[in-house]
Amino acid sequence: MSKPKVFVTRAIPQAGIDMLQEVAEVDVWGGQLPPDKSVIIEKVQDCAGLLSLLTDTIDAEVIAAGKKLKVISNYAVGYNNIDVAAATASGIAVGNTPGVLTDTTADMAWALLMAVARRIVEGDKYVRAGRWLTWEPQLFLGADVHHATLGIIGLGRIGQAVARRARGFDMRVLYYDVVRNEDAEAGTGVKFAELDELLRESDFVSLHCPLTETTRHLIGAHEFELMGPESYLINTSRGAVVDETALVTALTEEKIAGAALDVTDTEPILNDSPLLKLENVVICPHIASASRQTRTKMATMAAENLIAGLDDKPLPNCVNPPVLAPK
Ligand code: DGY
Repeated sequence: MSKPKVFVTRAIPQAGIDMLQEVAEVDVWGGQLPPDKSVIIEKVQDCAGLLSLLTDTIDAEVIAAGKKLKVISNYAVGYNNIDVAAATASGIAVGNTPGVLTDTTADMAWALLMAVARRIVEGDKYVRAGRWLTWEPQLFLGADVHHATLGIIGLGRIGQAVARRARGFDMRVLYYDVVRNEDAEAGTGVKFAELDELLRESDFVSLHCPLTETTRHLIGAHEFELMGPESYLINTSRGAVVDETALVTALTEEKIAGAALDVTDTEPILNDSPLLKLENVVICPHIASASRQTRTKMATMAAENLIAGLDDKPLPNCVNPPVLAPK
């Protein structure tokens, strides 16, 4: 019997590809940049499985082209790049990679928080530019992290992991989420606050909510006004959760002290983005889950989801379980 065909939209760690090759005929896109949507449309016509990245738009048009598609496995925990409703309507299971990247992403949120608070990137550039002349009493004064207040927006797995790290810094931790999580409150010592209160009270605001129509531009001009001139924004969720124009204004007019971003509204960030000209911003190229171990585990998890879907079995991590319910 011939093996089912699978399209993988970019080279992922080999461990995942090896697993797929045992059960499927695997076509891996070799480019550094994502394939055009037209390429994905052409490829999926013949495929039973699609392994996609967050940079691929898997919309209704792509899904409609995948007449033989049984499963879409996203190499990410977030899946806002996929029209899940369209996949569900077509009986296609959609998988993601939750859990495995929780601590790695929380570590990165923490690294960004520390970097912007203690001006690490500015200091590094200053040294490399040969400008370090002597020890100075007022050189690169930043903000204390210890004993400060951290506001976590979205107390899912990653938000909770960030809250746990805050304990070591003796921080007071507030959180806002649409669903109150009393178990997590008891487990991590975080306190629920309404969004406006959290923004007013926090020295650091860290975003950990998914991008949905409700969270798009959740943080805008009004929210920056509430945050105040000594506070910092950290974003490791999705760029569009923040209104970037309002962020630029807030940073330029010193309505907030700084921002550290692993994600931006447009990725990659546009070369003429005003954010790139501001010293009080740290920007990374969406690498929060990028440890060698985690990216390999994500590859094997994505492969497991895909293999289960090819086999008409429940995906270990499925975002549209109704597809898998007995018909
Ligand atoms: C995700 O998984 O959603 C991250 O943004 C990338 O790992």
